[in-house]
This record gives sequence, structure tokens and C-alpha cells, in this order.
Amino acid sequence: MILSIESSCDDSSIAITDIATKKLVYHKKISQEKEHSCYGGVVPELASRLHAVALPAILKETKPYFDKLKAIAVTNQPGLGVTLLEGITMAKTLAVLLDLPLIPVHHLKGHIYSLFIEKESTLPLIVLLISGGHTQVIRVENFEHMEILATSIDDSVGESFDKTAKMMGLGYPGGPLIEALALKGDENRFDLPIPLRNSPLIAFSLSGLKNAVRLKVEACGGKENMTEQDKADLSASFQKAVKLHLLQKSKKIFAQEPIKDFAIVGGASANKYIREAYEKLCQEFGKKMHVAPLAYCSDNAAMIGRYALDAYEKKQFTPPNEIDIVTTRKQQAGMLL
Ligand code: KG4
Ligand code: ZN
Repeated sequence: MILSIESSCDDSSIAITDIATKKLVYHKKISQEKEHSCYGGVVPELASRLHAVALPAILKETKPYFDKLKAIAVTNQPGLGVTLLEGITMAKTLAVLLDLPLIPVHHLKGHIYSLFIEKESTLPLIVLLISGGHTQVIRVENFEHMEILATSIDDSVGESFDKTAKMMGLGYPGGPLIEALALKGDENRFDLPIPLRNSPLIAFSLSGLKNAVRLKVEACGGKENMTEQDKADLSASFQKAVKLHLLQKSKKIFAQEPIKDFAIVGGASANKYIREAYEKLCQEFGKKMHVAPLAYCSDNAAMIGRYALDAYEKKQFTPPNEIDIVTTRKQQAGMLL
């Protein structure tokens, strides 16, 4: 079995995955949403200290599996340096004490492999990854060959949901709050720009839209003076603009890509409004759409363990004294393939 650890942001999670059957046999995640909510976003130092409490508590529950372990896997990039280090320190310690190989896992590849936790893998695939840190379209040929076809030139989809919620004083994480509020709103009330609408660039951009939301909040007299209906209408109008932006750029990619299987992964892939829009787009272009079960859309160690199964097969091990976090901006933006 492989023990996997995830601590790249505000979720402390450990999973145990069976190598022979590829089945997930243990999985637990402790989220810190409540603790960060009053700040409207993740406070790295606080997140790090919360991991230091949560990870050992979860690890204790995995003791019965210790004598069956063949490897330790851990997210080493991209993410917050101080939180990644919590998971890595635990993984290194386990690898040395139990004399097991160590598998570093790229968090975004983990998100892609979240699709295969409960299902056979379907490759090749075109993947839209929409998380709190990234917005990318990736062509996944196989485990070794992945290519970024489009990426955000500024903010990510998840971040734009979080900031929109923060501007209206809704709390954190913004994605589920905006999605729920949008159900009660009029998506045509606020006229928001569709990012890069007239640009030939096959890329994403969310910062201009975020600024447009800020101006609408100000026009309503600030968050204190917004009515519930104002907030619902702005949530719906914002979500519609994000959807139209994603669809417009995805259409261009779909038109060029012969690969028939398409998937959406990452925290924001839990959004039903966006999922439904993509289901229609896939029908239009003759693609088959895949999503991970809701439990594995946001950060979790099960997806890290699933990726680690394939890495184990290929003996992609790193000595404990050589594993490190990778946090430079350039490396975080890319997939390091
Ligand atoms: O993948 P994830 O758990 O963490 C990163 O790798 O960044 O994604 C978290 C992000 C947050 O920004 C959160 O607001 C967003 O996913 N999110 C959503 C929804 N649920 C979570 N965004 C839009 N709609 C949702 N229903
Ligand atoms: Zn993530």
C-alpha cells in the first residue's frame, strides 16, 4: 500500500491506496475553511500551524496499515511553501523511519488523477483544471506526456470566486457561496465584461472581471449597503461571465483537438452551473465529458495516492534528503513536464 499526504493549501489529508487493486482503502481530510473564513482567504502561517495539529492526528489512524506500506507519497509542488513543508517533513520522517521509498507528487497532476480514483483511467484526455491556484487546459496523452494548451495570464477561476465573495462580505471559500447565491439571482442584471472576448489569445484572464465586480460593488454603495438581491444578482452575473469566458476559449481548443474525451478537475469543477454548460458544449463538439466525484474535486490525498500508484510502477522515487518544495512563480505556473 502507499500512504499519501496532501498539505499544499488549507486541507490536511492522508490516504492509503492499495497497489494491487488500485483501491482507496483509507482517506481522511480535515479542512480549515472555518478558521480562514473571517480573513476572506487562506493565511499561510495559520494554515501551517493547523496542519501541524491535524496531520499527526490523522496519521495516528493509519497505524494499522504501517506494516503493509511500500512507499510514501507527498505533494511537493505547487502550493504554499510553509504548508507544503508540513506534509514533506512528515513524509520524509516516515520514509526514513520505515525505510520506504519517497514519491514526490505534483499537485496539479494529482487533480488530473482524481478522475481515476473510482474509475478506470481514460487517456488521452483534454483536461480543464480550475482550482484556487490555477486555470489551465492540459492535453494529457499519458502519465509521462502532458502539455499545457492554455493557461491564465493572471488570476485563477477559484480565486476570482473567492475575491468576489470577499468583496461582498460573504466569507471563504467563495465558490460554493457564490454558486448558491447565484441560484436566487438575475444573471442579466449586471453588465460585466467577458475577459479577452475580442482577443485571439487562447488563454484565460480573470483579474479584469474581478475589478469590474469591485466597481459594481462600489456602485451599489459598498458591501454594507448591498441588499441580498444585489448580492445574488451580482453573484449570478459574475458566474455567467466566468462561464462565457471559459466556454469561448474552450470552443477554440475543442475545434482544434481530435481527442474525444474531456474532463474538468479542481475545486471549481464542483460548480454545477459550469458543469452543465460544459456538458452542452461537449454534446455540440461530440466529446465525452468526465468529472471526478464531488468528494475528490477539492484538495485531497486520495488523488495524490492515485497518481503515486503510477509513479510507483515507474519507480519515480526521490531520496528523502533531496525532496524539496518547488515554489518559484515560474515553476508554479507550469507543469514541469
Ligand atoms: O482545488 P482546490 O481545492 O485548491 C487548489 O488547488 O487551489 O480549489 C479550491 C478553489 C477555491 O477557490 C474555491 O472557491 C473553489 O475551488 N470552489 C468553487 C466551488 N467549490 C470550490 N468555485 C466555484 N464553484 C464552486 N462550487
Ligand atoms: Zn488543488
